[in-house]
Amino acid sequence: MASSVPLDRFNPAEYDFDHPPISHRLNGWLAGLWGGARVYQPFFESRGGLRGDERVLDFGCGRGVATDRIARMLVKGGRVTGVDASSYYARVARRRLASFDNAEVVHGDVRDAELELGSYDVVCLLFAIHEIAWDCRQSVLDHLVRLLKPGASLWVLEGTKGSHSTPVSEVREVLSLAGAKEGAFELDDYYAATYRKPSD
Ligand SMILES: C[S@@+](CC[C@H](N)C(=O)[O-])C[C@H]1O[C@@H](n2cnc3c(N)ncnc32)[C@H](O)[C@@H]1O
Repeated sequence: MASSVPLDRFNPAEYDFDHPPISHRLNGWLAGLWGGARVYQPFFESRGGLRGDERVLDFGCGRGVATDRIARMLVKGGRVTGVDASSYYARVARRRLASFDNAEVVHGDVRDAELELGSYDVVCLLFAIHEIAWDCRQSVLDHLVRLLKPGASLWVLEGTKGSHSTPVSEVREVLSLAGAKEGAFELDDYYAATYRKPSD
């Protein structure tokens, strides 16, 4: 896998997620000021929104900007769990979400975290696929699908241009191999899609 990935693509194995450079911290902080209302809220609405009572997993929650929007929508007893393998981002997300009693942040690889299989109504994968180590991307996505309830949804938002992106064909391939079925999607500079775990 690694040898077939072009050199101009971001390589997660070469990035220290626990100690991001100050320029990335600053960029992330600035993006966090507007990203919630301008990017994530419209995306969630385009996926059909939430009833308010769901269990949601925000995989690779980063600074917790999207997790924060999700928590605000879960007004009927729902809960959101953000998970991030980076100690830095998990700490920042915990600080952001400290005032919510329906949100938690788990630090660690999602495959090792004590998350109940088959228990989530929605799993979010927001600008996260290109940041999963190439050699374990398939097993991470397999695990995310196992965390979903039968018939539940996986919401994907991923760039299609530039180094911090993933070709749509690759996203489709790994999710299809994981057993998720593509539903409604939009495709331009971003790929926004709803996948479903079959009910069987
Ligand atoms: C670009 S950030 C996405 C941030 C956030 N979703 C957003 O939209 O602002 C992707 C995150 O995925 C995390 N990540 C990558 N592989 C992971 C894994 N196996 N388990 C948990 N988190 C992982 C990285 O630590 C990184 O912080």
